[in-house]
Amino acid sequence: MSIEAIKHLFITGDKIFLSHSEVHEAREDTLLLADAIQTEPTDVVLEIGVGLGVAAVFIGQKVKEFYGVDINKNAVMSTIVNGYLNDVDFKDNIFVGDCYEPFSNKKFDIIYSNPPQLPTPQSKERNNWIGWANNGGNLGRDVIDKIINDVDKHLNPGGSLYLMHFEICNLETTVKVLEDKQLKVEIVNSIENQLGKLSFERIDHITNCACDMLKKDGDNYYHKIFIIKATKVA
Ligand SMILES: C[S@@+](CC[C@H](N)C(=O)[O-])C[C@H]1O[C@@H](n2cnc3c(N)ncnc32)[C@H](O)[C@@H]1O
Repeated sequence: MSIEAIKHLFITGDKIFLSHSEVHEAREDTLLLADAIQTEPTDVVLEIGVGLGVAAVFIGQKVKEFYGVDINKNAVMSTIVNGYLNDVDFKDNIFVGDCYEPFSNKKFDIIYSNPPQLPTPQSKERNNWIGWANNGGNLGRDVIDKIINDVDKHLNPGGSLYLMHFEICNLETTVKVLEDKQLKVEIVNSIENQLGKLSFERIDHITNCACDMLKKDGDNYYHKIFIIKATKVA
């Protein structure tokens, strides 16, 4: 990692991380998802969209095998470096790729993701790594759909998907797709989240898609984020 790309160091719990100018920053939701995931020491785990590798470090230290993927090569490199800083050896298990693409026939006990899901009309696209870390396509569902459409092929019996999901991205559709695949779906946590700068640029579009799911307080908008768990019944 080049020195110029390093933005700052940050400490979370007893761990230290480097952030990178071209990788999505870890936020409250990153840790909320990591906290919600129940692991066993024997688990084989996949994270889709590792970002800086913060959740990867917390989960990777507890399980037998950890795999990660990100479309951004800077995120893959940051995750490997942050693993090294925190004594978690990701070896050759973090890949550049699109969702399940590097794992054609591999199955996991746990798959988790905090995918890009900001509803983004073409006119508001930002063609850089931070933009692509947030851009979920017109309805916010482009990467969510890729993850849920193939999840049953990559879960072991008894295995679970944990997915961070904005309410504004049509949670009902996701639950239906997963239930149609015979997965048992539950909501394990939720928070109210303030829309950030990128979201604010898209506020007219988001309001058109899901105005009843936004709460306005002064100049600020808030929306709900859920963590859903979908289990492939053994
Ligand atoms: C919202 S960020 C989350 C990063 C990190 N997991 C976290 O919670 O802080 C989404 C991440 O997914 C990656 N990503 C976007 N599309 C992807 C795809 N199709 N396959 C794999 N990773 C993807 C982005 O590069 C970004 O690092």
